[in-house]
Amino acid sequence: MEELFVNNVEWAEKVKKDNPDFFRGLSEEHAPEYLWIGCSDSRVPANEIIGLMPGELFVHRNVANLVVHSDLNCLSVIQLAVENLKVKHVIVCGHYGCGGVTASVSNQKLGGLIDNWLLSVKDVEYLHRASIDYSGQEKKTINQVCELNVIEQAVNVSMTSVVLDAWNRGQELVIHGWIYNMADGLLKNLGVNISNVEEMRSQYNSAIESSNRRYSGS
Ligand code: CO
Repeated sequence: MEELFVNNVEWAEKVKKDNPDFFRGLSEEHAPEYLWIGCSDSRVPANEIIGLMPGELFVHRNVANLVVHSDLNCLSVIQLAVENLKVKHVIVCGHYGCGGVTASVSNQKLGGLIDNWLLSVKDVEYLHRASIDYSGQEKKTINQVCELNVIEQAVNVSMTSVVLDAWNRGQELVIHGWIYNMADGLLKNLGVNISNVEEMRSQYNSAIESSNRRYSGS
């Protein structure tokens, strides 16, 4: 563990070398523009993949980047981000090959609480069962469900009372759905970008259609 403290000192020195006032400025203000809701997977480090420094990204991560309407942890983060920090964008970011989605698609039991948590991914699968291709390579099916899951969770964010109230007040807030490919380090916008309640259905439908098109017949 000692190595981690050594790394920490080196990191802080490096940041201070580039910007001597960096930490003083940060300790006085917290005003990120973005809330990131991503997977806990260690291969998807939120700040790093979009090149943001401490102070620029408010982060919530859980297994399979789920937004469950009874999860007080996630809902509290969304409320704090939207009502207090006044973020302008909420990004739900999934990733291909997600272990949580893999367990769900392959009906693999991980044991204990995690199986219950991942039932929300099963719900996504069930909802889209008519368009999910289970006939080809399992890897492809998993990636299709990874995309569908992000789109569903982005809509879940949009349906929270916190977000609906914000839009009602005229607060500027856009909900996005992205997916990360750890094989090349690149992000893809899944085409769901919801900036008001009227757009929710059309953004959802077009993102689902585009995703299904990517996975059908090829
Ligand atoms: Co994951």
